[in-house]
Amino acid sequence: MNTVHTTPDPFRLDGARVLVTGASRGIGRSVAVTLARAGGRLALSARTPEALARTAELVAKEGHDAVLVPGDLAAPEEAGAVVDGAAAALGGLDILVHNAGILPSHPDGSAAMVPLQDSVQESWDHVVSVNLNATAALCRHAHRHLSASPRASVVLMSSLAGVVGAPLMEAYAATKAAQISLARSLAVGWARTGIRVNALCPGWTRTDMTASVHTAEPLSDWLMAHVPMGRWAEPQEVAHATLFLVSPAASFLTGHALLLDGGASVPDCGLAGIAKPPSPFVT
Ligand SMILES: NC(=O)c1ccc[n+]([C@@H]2O[C@H](COP(=O)([O-])OP(=O)(O)OC[C@H]3O[C@@H](n4cnc5c(N)ncnc54)[C@H](OP(=O)(O)O)[C@@H]3O)[C@@H](O)[C@H]2O)c1
Repeated sequence: MNTVHTTPDPFRLDGARVLVTGASRGIGRSVAVTLARAGGRLALSARTPEALARTAELVAKEGHDAVLVPGDLAAPEEAGAVVDGAAAALGGLDILVHNAGILPSHPDGSAAMVPLQDSVQESWDHVVSVNLNATAALCRHAHRHLSASPRASVVLMSSLAGVVGAPLMEAYAATKAAQISLARSLAVGWARTGIRVNALCPGWTRTDMTASVHTAEPLSDWLMAHVPMGRWAEPQEVAHATLFLVSPAASFLTGHALLLDGGASVPDCGLAGIAKPPSPFVT
């Protein structure tokens, strides 16, 4: 049973056994280092062993040796091996941060911002497979381990795009909305087992995923004009919110979708008077 915690520092995770997916770079790498700094023992997953090893070096600086459990979540059947590998190496599992995710991409890896009517079914299927089917598969396999933990918690890395309309990113947005729905359903279904499940919904964050956007000045400026705080989020800020959600500080928080977006989702009726440059999508 997930109970009230009376630890002196409710933001510590000392000894917690943690699996972070998408830990090879970007938000996932920051999450891994931050949770290790808080005392977590980490298992790291992604496709690229060399990049995972670099994250493990950073985790080691926090005083912990991370376990590597590489896997390609485009094949959701790999989720079982990732979860069971992590649990076997750590002696169980208390926390799952499922962060791996993709935008539809061009062959060179840059984001393919294409409206649904111009996109192809294969692209939709690939995004659904990595972002949604793998989420369900990971949660399904993790349940057995988490239900044996006295402080079990899951964070699904969703997105602002799962909450607001996101033209040109329809497949991505649909899967991110589905992650929020899954977090809510599992939160209720698993509550009496003591497993908390929440979704975290970052807005535009400066990582490889968004490199083709945050390095394109007219587009970046236009997007940031729609963020009341007027800037990109940094991965570290997403990691701190993740730490809150999995920590004892959030011991009564479940089924929540936490927006971390600099105010981007707040309707302002235009009263703030923030000038919006012309849309780069309208020529
Ligand atoms: N950046 C943003 O603006 C933003 C905003 C809201 C939400 N998010 C969400 O935050 C999460 C992390 O995004 P990010 O910006 O840090 O992205 P990123 O820099 O592109 O990193 C994505 C991570 O996912 C892993 N990954 C990708 N495909 C995978 C696959 N098939 N199997 C296993 N792992 C895979 C990547 O590792 P390998 O390539 O080594 O496999 C990498 O570790 C995503 O779920 C994203 O949707 C991002």
